Amino acid sequence: MPELWGSFLGRSDTGYWDTYIRSLCFQLQPPDETGGLKWTDEMSAEYVYGFPIWFGPVGYLNISHPEYAKTILATAEPKDDIVYRFVKPWIGDGLLVSHGQKWFRNRRLLTPAFHFGVLQPYTRLFSDSTNIMMANWKQLGAGASINVFEHVSLMTLDSMLKCALTVDSNCQVDSKQNPYVAAVYGLTMLTLQRFLLFPLHSDLIYYLTPMGYRFWRLCRVVHQHSETVIRDRREALKNEQVQDLDQRRKYLDFLDILLKTKDEDGNGLSDAEIRDEVDTFMFEGHDTTASGLSWTLYNLARHPEHQARCRQEACSVLGGRSEVTGADLSNLPYITMCIKESMRLHTTVPGIARKLTKPITFPDGKSLPPGSLVGISAWNIHHNPHVWEDPKVYDPSRFLPENCKGRHSHAFLPFSAGPRNCIGQHFAMNELKTAVALIVQSFQLAVDENYMPKGMMSLVLKATEPGLFLKVTPLD
Ligand code: HEM
Repeated sequence: MPELWGSFLGRSDTGYWDTYIRSLCFQLQPPDETGGLKWTDEMSAEYVYGFPIWFGPVGYLNISHPEYAKTILATAEPKDDIVYRFVKPWIGDGLLVSHGQKWFRNRRLLTPAFHFGVLQPYTRLFSDSTNIMMANWKQLGAGASINVFEHVSLMTLDSMLKCALTVDSNCQVDSKQNPYVAAVYGLTMLTLQRFLLFPLHSDLIYYLTPMGYRFWRLCRVVHQHSETVIRDRREALKNEQVQDLDQRRKYLDFLDILLKTKDEDGNGLSDAEIRDEVDTFMFEGHDTTASGLSWTLYNLARHPEHQARCRQEACSVLGGRSEVTGADLSNLPYITMCIKESMRLHTTVPGIARKLTKPITFPDGKSLPPGSLVGISAWNIHHNPHVWEDPKVYDPSRFLPENCKGRHSHAFLPFSAGPRNCIGQHFAMNELKTAVALIVQSFQLAVDENYMPKGMMSLVLKATEPGLFLKVTPLD
């Protein structure tokens, strides 16, 4: 073992003991407020390609270089069962966690749901959700300080329910009234709490606590809701009421596509599979986009010069319109650059993990045996000074086409890469662009000096307590 890890660290076996002792020291200290982001940044500045992180006797190779990430992400190796097992009782064996033949078949069946033509009409739904959120902001009065994540995550959940199930939940007006929305919200919070509290990682302990009981109860609420919506839609499909509905709403939602899709043998997805996929979209599709949007708004608030340029672009494309169209999306290059730079600096999904089933050899000839656990830290890659110049500086011009030339294909990994990349990335980018354009057209954003947020490691990047606050002032 010391030889294996030592060879990776380029310091013979002294590297092994160095990282082992530093992992232990880190874990024995009271948890730092960033949940480890700062510590791993320091380690990755020292160990260019990656370094082991130890949880007792279990070691992960934490990859912090694009070349190593490329080797792992080219494979369809299964996810490790350590982090995603917290959400499995909620999302079942959906696309995010399934593997092997099941994943391969379902990825193919789900891909049409994310085609350009299917996504285009959703911009109207994203616009509606953003307008409701902005109406709430206006009621708070000029310069109100808001906890952005709270507002934005209800907005993205609202959009997701409209696009996936054609459910108008009214959740931004009254989030507590709708039991399904309250349950999704509660499950997201409980998953974060469990991730951060190490003793709750044990199933035995967790399900004996009130939190574990609440998690289990909320899973039942969510599952029953999904099952009812699926059953009702199947019935409607049989009675051809859906065609009427399609004509009225003029778009297909994800559920329509999941119900109609068939493999080459003519077999579709079972109701249980559809439930898992719907629940996966709810979990993976709303909190991630909420994090991406919250940190983008924060970075624009911190940098009024970039905010002003985004506003100029939004005003010239939208001309005061309150609805973004599919055609507008390709005319927002500066806003797109600001979003991407935000997703680099405040990496939305800081890390993902795999468990190797086969040996793997990196381009420099170093190998890992089957059974090895590997973490791909997009956060560390995005902050690696050997990969990005001045990585801590927010500079959207990094994403000008001329500045992207010659950059490593895996230097920027907000949506991962390879066969298991994010299936929802175009959906997410469309929603982010729509929301940012509408917000900067109508609001001035400023940081609230009383609360300067720090990023905190979790499944998606959140802000440390008390949250991410911004002052929002309506523009005339
Ligand atoms: C800013 C928003 C988003 C970010 C940053 C993001 C990021 C990611 C990342 C990093 C992965 C790889 C996870 C892993 O390998 O363990 C992933 C996978 C996935 N994402 Fe997203 N995501 C976003 C939005 C969405 C949306 C809106 C949806 C659905 C509508 C979605 C659905 C999925 C699914 C189903 C997978 C699993 C794909 C597979 O394994 O085949 N994501 N996402």
